[in-house]
Amino acid sequence: MNDVIELMLSHRSIRKFTDQKIPQTTLETLIKAGQSAATSSFIQSCTIIQVNDADKRAQLAQLAGGQAYVAQAATFLVFCADMQRHQLACDMHQQQMQSGFTEQFITATLDCGLFAQNVVLAAQSLSLGCVYIGGLRNNIAQVGQLLELPDLVYPVFGLCLGHPAQDPEVKPRLPVEVILKQDQYTDQNDRADIEQYDLRIKEYYANRSSNVKQQGWSEQISTMLTKEARPHMLSYLQSKGYLQK
Ligand SMILES: Cc1cc2nc3c(=O)[nH]c(=O)nc-3n(C[C@H](O)[C@H](O)[C@H](O)COP(=O)(O)O)c2cc1C
Repeated sequence: MNDVIELMLSHRSIRKFTDQKIPQTTLETLIKAGQSAATSSFIQSCTIIQVNDADKRAQLAQLAGGQAYVAQAATFLVFCADMQRHQLACDMHQQQMQSGFTEQFITATLDCGLFAQNVVLAAQSLSLGCVYIGGLRNNIAQVGQLLELPDLVYPVFGLCLGHPAQDPEVKPRLPVEVILKQDQYTDQNDRADIEQYDLRIKEYYANRSSNVKQQGWSEQISTMLTKEARPHMLSYLQSKGYLQK
C-alpha cells in the first residue's frame, strides 16, 4: 500500500460542495493530469467544455434529471468524445476521413473515461471532491444543442468538482474474486459471493449517514435493469456521425 493506492481506495462521490472556488490554474493542472492518460493510437479524442455560465448550469442541472449539484459545484465540466478535430487533421492533409465506425466510437468514448478518471484522482489528491454526471445523457440532444456541439462531438458525461461539504462513507465494491478470473471465464462461485456482498451492501446502506435504504446490490441492479436504458442514445449517436458501421 502507498499514498496513491490509499487515495484510490478512499474514493467516494461528493454531491455537496462549499462555495469555495477552484483557481483556474488548478483546474488547468487537473486537465493536464487528464491529458496524461493513455489514449488509443494517440488519438486524443476528449474535449472538455467548462460550463461557467450560471443559466447554462441551471439548464444542465435540469436536463440531467434535476441534479442540483450540477448548478452548485464550484466547477462543472462536460467530457465530450470528439472526432471533429480528426476531421480537421485529415482536411489539413487532403485526406478523406473514414468515420462512423463502431471501433472509433469505442476509442473516443474510452479516451474520455480514462482522461476523466485521471482528473478525478488528481482532484482528490488536492482534497477536492467530484461526482460524474451521466444524467446528462437523459436529454443528450438538448445538452448538445446548449453547448453547440458539432457533428462527431457528443457529451459522454459531466463532472462536478469542488471542495467537499460532506464526508460520505466509502461504498464497498464487489469482492475481487467476482471481478478477477484466472485463465478463463467462470461464474461458478459468483452467486455465493454476490449473496455475501449483498449483505455487506445492505449493512452499508442501512448505516450510512444519508439516503439510508434497505437494499442489496443484486436487488438494486435487477430493479434498474428491468427499465430501458436511454433508448434514444443509438439514434442520437448515429445523428452525430457515430455507430454507422
Ligand atoms: C459515468 C458515470 C456516471 C455517473 N452519473 C451520475 C449521476 O448522474 N448522478 C450521480 O449522482 N452520480 C453519478 N455517478 C456516480 C455513481 O453513482 C457512483 O460512482 C457509484 O454509485 C459508486 O459510488 P461512489 O462513487 O461514491 O463510490 C456516475 C458515475 C459514473 C462513473
